[in-house]
This record gives sequence, structure tokens and C-alpha cells, in this order.
Amino acid sequence: MSKHIVIGVTGGIAVYKILDVASRLRKLGYSMNTIMTESACEFVKPLSFQTITNNYVVTDTFERPYTWDVEHIALAKKADIMLVAPATANIIGKVANGIADDMLSTTVMAARGPVIFAPAMNTAMYENPIVQENIAYLKEKGYLFIEPDSGWLACGDLGAGKLPTPEKIVEYVVGVLQKIEENAKEEVKRDLEGKHILVTAGPTIEAIDPMRYITNHSSGKMGYAIAEDAAKRGAKVVLVSGQTNLECPKGVERIDVRSARDMYKAVHEHFEWADAVIKTAAVADYRPKEMSNHKIKKNGDNLILELVPNPDILRSLGERKTHQILVGFAAETQNVIEYAEDKIRKKNLDFIVANNIAAAGAGFKGDTNIATIIEKDGTITEHPQMYKSELGNVILDKVKDYLS
Ligand code: CTP
Repeated sequence: MSKHIVIGVTGGIAVYKILDVASRLRKLGYSMNTIMTESACEFVKPLSFQTITNNYVVTDTFERPYTWDVEHIALAKKADIMLVAPATANIIGKVANGIADDMLSTTVMAARGPVIFAPAMNTAMYENPIVQENIAYLKEKGYLFIEPDSGWLACGDLGAGKLPTPEKIVEYVVGVLQKIEENAKEEVKRDLEGKHILVTAGPTIEAIDPMRYITNHSSGKMGYAIAEDAAKRGAKVVLVSGQTNLECPKGVERIDVRSARDMYKAVHEHFEWADAVIKTAAVADYRPKEMSNHKIKKNGDNLILELVPNPDILRSLGERKTHQILVGFAAETQNVIEYAEDKIRKKNLDFIVANNIAAAGAGFKGDTNIATIIEKDGTITEHPQMYKSELGNVILDKVKDYLS
């Protein structure tokens, strides 16, 4: 079935370019609806989009004010993806702050599929730290952005903020739509049937006393996405998980653990069974030397907590490995590749998935990641920002290559 795109058009001189985008997408066979903000209608009449897309246009102007509360849900459901272009600082700011006060912002908020923003604005506005923070926050939440071009802007300034050419926008949109289709096909591809995959996920918790503990910000999302993808592809999956808020994926056996030592035990118990081990867990490197059996009371003095190293689980697997494929993760904030290569050697890994957790759109909390895969033979493959479930499939493809 052909994919449906909802185009959200906000006010800016670049609106006319989106008519060309819509025309190209229609020629490629996609169906479309358009939502225009009031200010977009100042630049181009809804009739132009209606004619080019051969479909109705929704606006916030007075003829249709009574329908938008229902219409936005209908359009959000219909959309395989949304393209907001040109995206003004205003719509970016609204979505980043959860404001839904018109047709477009409510539809974006209700959308289930990918939402792509193509920002276009004056350079100073685009570089304004508030706009940049909003963009970074939205990227972290999984929204996609087409980077603006640099050049002469309509206001006479020279710099970043120019809407990319219609060709570039269409190429990006089609790329995202193709990925959706590929993922749908992956779901039915049961190419890991008969394989045993052990995944670790989430943080470990190291108790200080019965009330307090040391942990980290890992959400577990990456490991859960891999476990879910592997089960869909037919593998038997055991997920050794630290404490998270996530539901156990369908068809996956989950073993809940708290501390690094609990995780060590559970992982080693399943190691012989496993064909591949994927260690996304953020294991605490240290734990308090002693856990107090009673709540530590304050007495006004400094409290010194002595920490001792936890076992390095992955390294211990690397020492024990016979037939297993070992995949590590490296969450870094600097020298990403160098540290990752070092971990491959030290932990006897087949490959490592490295990411810079300081980058927008990557890291612990969000639904997307930006990863570099480094293999033991030195091959380095960079992957752009993608959903964790997509990255899960990329990692599993590599595991499959190693297994065969
Ligand atoms: N890991 C592990 N056991 C540990 C620490 C880490 O199994 N005690 C695993 C993680 O699950 C991950 C990989 O090792 O797959 C890399 O973890 P990371 O914390 O980034 O690296 P470390 O080896 O701890 O090195 P450093 O703290 O110096 O970055």
C-alpha cells in the first residue's frame, strides 16, 4: 500500500519550495494531506497545495475552526510520516515544550510515525541557543531534522537557516519511508531462527545501605530493542536486565538482576547456551566496599564511602569464550573510537558499538542513537541517527554475519 505523508507548512518565505516538494512526492506515488498554519496561508493559498496533492488542505482559518480537535487525530492516524517544512522557530519551540494549540501542533503531538522537521529561518534565529536547545531536545526524543543549508537568506543575511533544495528534502523523506518499509519486511524475516542470543540491559544498582544506592542513567531501551528485534527474527532470547521501567518484549525470557555481581552470575550461567552475547548494560564499575545493614545516620561530619571495583563481566566472558560472538557497547563522552578499539582488545570482542552520549540524539534516555560499529579487524562503520529498534537490527545483521 502506498505510504501517506502529512505535510505541515508553517509561515516563511520558503513555503513556495514545498509546493515543488509535494509535486515531486506525488509523482513518486505517495498520497498526501497538507496542514497549513495561518501564517503559511499568507504566503501561499491552500488551493495550491490542494491542487498539487489532489487532496484537502486543513487550515486554522475561520472556515474550519470547529473541526480541528477531531481532524488532528484522523490525520495523525493516517500519516506514515509527517514532514514539517519550512519549520519555523515557533513550531519547533511549541513541540519542544508540549504546546498543542492549533491544527499543526496538535497533529504533530498525536503522530505515531516519524516526524521530520526542515527548519528555515534567519541565521541569528537559527543559531539562537534556545532554538538550538529545542532542536537538540527534540532530536533526543526521536524527532528527525533535515539540516538547513547555508547561503543568502531572504532577509539579506548570509549564513545557516536556508531551506534545503526540494531535491534534498524529497531524498530525505523517501529515505525515511524506505526504512519504514524495510523494517516492516524485517519483522517477517525470521533469519535468526535456532540462534541463542543473550542480551544485557539497563543499569546495575550497588547498595550503600537499605535505602541508598549508586547507579547510572541507563534506561535499558537499547538492550530491550535488541532483545525484541532478535525475538521477532526468530532467535531464542534471554535478557538479563537491571532495573528499568520497560516491559519485557514479547517472546523474550527476562532475568531481573540488581547489582553487577548478580548480573555476572546470571550471564555466566547462560554463557555456554549462548551463540552471541550483546552487552548493552551500563554496569557500575565500582560498588561500596561494605553495605551497611542499617540506614546510615548523619552526624554532621563528612562521610567517606570506600568503593571497590566490580568484576568486568564482559572481560570475563572474553577470557572464557569458545564459540560465542561477543558484542560490547562503549558509551563515551570523548575519544570515542580510540577507547572503543582499546575495549575490543582488552575484552576480546568481535565488535563494539560506540556512541558519544554527549551528542544530541544519542545515548541513554532517548529513543534514537547515533552509533559507530568498530570490528576486531579494524573496520569502522558510522551509522546516522536512527531509532534504537533500527540500530538493533543493524547490530543483529552484523551478529548474523559473524555467526555464519
Ligand atoms: N562492562 C561489563 N562489566 C563492567 C563494566 C562494563 O560487562 N564491570 C561492559 C558493558 O556492558 C559494555 C562494555 O563493557 O558492553 C563497555 O563498558 P564501559 O563502561 O563503557 O567500559 P569500561 O570497560 O567500564 O571502561 P571505562 O569505565 O574505562 O570506560
